[in-house]
Amino acid sequence: MAFTFRGYKIGKVGIIGSGQIGPDIALHFVKSLYQFDVQVVVVDIAEEALAKGKAKLLKKVDKGAETGAFKPKQVEGMKSHVLFTSNYDELKSADLVIEAATEDLPLKRRIFKQVEGLVSPEAILASNSSHLEPERIFKECTHKGRTLCAHYFFPAERNPAMEIIPSKDTNPEVTDLVMRLYEYIGKIPFKVRSRYGYAVDPVFEGLCLAGIQILDAGIGTTKEIDTVASKCLGLRVGPFTGQNLTGGNPISAHGLSQMHEKINAWYRVPERLQQMVDAKADWEVPGRGETIEVPPDREKLIADEMLGAYFGMVCEMIDAGIITVSDYDLLLGISLDINPPFTFMNSMGLDKALDLLKAYSKKYPAMPVSKALSDRAASGKPWEILDVLFEKKGDVAVITIRRPKALNALNSKVFDELTAHIEKIKSDPEIKAAVITGFGNKAFVAGADIKEMAGLTSPAEGEAFARKGQIVTMKLQTMGKPLVAAMNGFALGGGIELAMCAAARVAPKGLSFFAGQPEVNLGLIPGMGGTQRLPRIVGFERAAEMVRTANPISSDQAYEYGLVNELVDDDVLPRAIELAREIAEGKTKVKPMEMGPLADAPTSLPDIDIGHHSKAIDRLAVAAMLEGAKLTLDEGLKAEARWFGQCWTTEDNRIGLTTFIEKGAKVKAEFVHR
Ligand code: CAA
Repeated sequence: MAFTFRGYKIGKVGIIGSGQIGPDIALHFVKSLYQFDVQVVVVDIAEEALAKGKAKLLKKVDKGAETGAFKPKQVEGMKSHVLFTSNYDELKSADLVIEAATEDLPLKRRIFKQVEGLVSPEAILASNSSHLEPERIFKECTHKGRTLCAHYFFPAERNPAMEIIPSKDTNPEVTDLVMRLYEYIGKIPFKVRSRYGYAVDPVFEGLCLAGIQILDAGIGTTKEIDTVASKCLGLRVGPFTGQNLTGGNPISAHGLSQMHEKINAWYRVPERLQQMVDAKADWEVPGRGETIEVPPDREKLIADEMLGAYFGMVCEMIDAGIITVSDYDLLLGISLDINPPFTFMNSMGLDKALDLLKAYSKKYPAMPVSKALSDRAASGKPWEILDVLFEKKGDVAVITIRRPKALNALNSKVFDELTAHIEKIKSDPEIKAAVITGFGNKAFVAGADIKEMAGLTSPAEGEAFARKGQIVTMKLQTMGKPLVAAMNGFALGGGIELAMCAAARVAPKGLSFFAGQPEVNLGLIPGMGGTQRLPRIVGFERAAEMVRTANPISSDQAYEYGLVNELVDDDVLPRAIELAREIAEGKTKVKPMEMGPLADAPTSLPDIDIGHHSKAIDRLAVAAMLEGAKLTLDEGLKAEARWFGQCWTTEDNRIGLTTFIEKGAKVKAEFVHR
């Protein structure tokens, strides 16, 4: 068996380098792909590094077994699918090779020359360089179209962020494949334009430089700067501690010297940093639990400089077109555990952010005052940070909901962005059809945003929230161009309700936890069409069972119920795009939804075991289903929204929502049936 993804077969993954990060990259691949019998081979010329790397990987696997993260079968599977070896010939049949050797250009070039001689011309070659441009690394390669950089962040098996840097020669299909593959195996990849240092390391290293400048100016000590920087930037650890923890001084010194040439003159190697490198010394930083008091006037001076430097660096990336604002905001937040910069600037006001940058630039003239920030501030509008991405794949628009921390849950912002994208789809004559999908490998959409709903206080607010979502689903259903839902993972509550407004749905085969209407767990009823569209698709009996019990169904069951039109083996997106096009061209016919009242509308529902769920909420769910069945879909939705609002008249609504917010999804609410 091998793993085939979008038609590309991966039987073996090669990792070159058993140093700091190679074993962690290997662990991520083996964890994700061993069940497909994919072999992971780690190659290094140093036996000592191999032994150390293997021990590190095995220790992490055993720890996972101890904590229960890995089941015994997984442990056995992982251990039997990873090999540490000094024999480069083991790479021969590798379909994907990640080089994670020392940051040394001639060495990387030699490695790839050797690897190209071993693997097939179709194999994909990636470098986990943290700085070097792919054009330089792969300069001597023959099959440049299949090369790119794939930059991991510490710790590589757990940190989901990744920078994917294609060169000007990389085949865009290869970039697309690598991006999707990483998403499929649980990463959050971001495409970054090729430039030295990419998008993240200039900020990581630049914050250290900014700290040293403050130190040089005599404004604070390293301990004080570290403390204030971590507070004002929302960093888990300050820039000096960050350098100590990653052993980063030498890499930062090298990186900063190159950035001086390749980004701008603000980046430079301060003398103090070079001295630390030469002395192989660590910075003096606050000890664990040590509190550093900084007088308010000095705290302000330090914070203003750190913020000015941060905004200057990130906005320069936007000016240079290295990455989009939405991607960068999410990437920095995840990879560096820092306040996402554009959200941060929006919250303090762009005029204030611009003033901080201007003041910084006055003191350090090599830091440019960003045009993008100046223009935005002048426009009076905040940075546009999208949670719903829009892309054209030829004549098909692809809408992707990307809220990884909330499993793509639908909030008001998402509804607004969806509305704007619908208008684009409608008005663009090139677009014939559309696909809607969720980001990542876990959730299509985990429902309406429970945290937002928990803030609603009255039936009228509940009804208005449901209507907002319903109007969007109706717009999607009636936009005049076919929509297909590419259901990359589970769809719960508002998630399955969103998918049901599509003309067709494509889902992964064999997903045991796939679709459900879990609203009654929260002291709610479905509010975005679950009581109306679900009976129209799967029939009354099945719909009533799903809505009243919250029992989820598998993707295979969803297919059997007619809730899903097609099941696929790996990536749902290509088939969804193809299907959308086929429907638009009339090559594939789909059954249209009944928009009028249901011919077989029942007058009552049979008794059913609703388990621990609220009887008060069940009555509302039943009422919404029975009333809606006699109405047109449009009117039925309005009735559903009213019944949804009625949930706020019950005690069980507060109990259900509060239980989720305070105790999480796994704890059952103790309903009082009122
Ligand atoms: N809204 C907001 N946040 C959500 C969410 C939702 N619908 N679903 C999950 N999340 C958040 C969680 O709160 C958690 O955030 P934190 O890390 O900040 O705590 C994060 O996503 C990850 O969730 P879990 O840790 O719970 O992940 P898991 O893998 O253990 O479980 C799950 C995943 C089964 C989806 C579980 O999160 C769950 O049951 N979520 C609730 C799903 C639900 O009830 N959806 C229906 C909402 S009501 C609705 O949609 C009404 C309507 O019709 C309009």
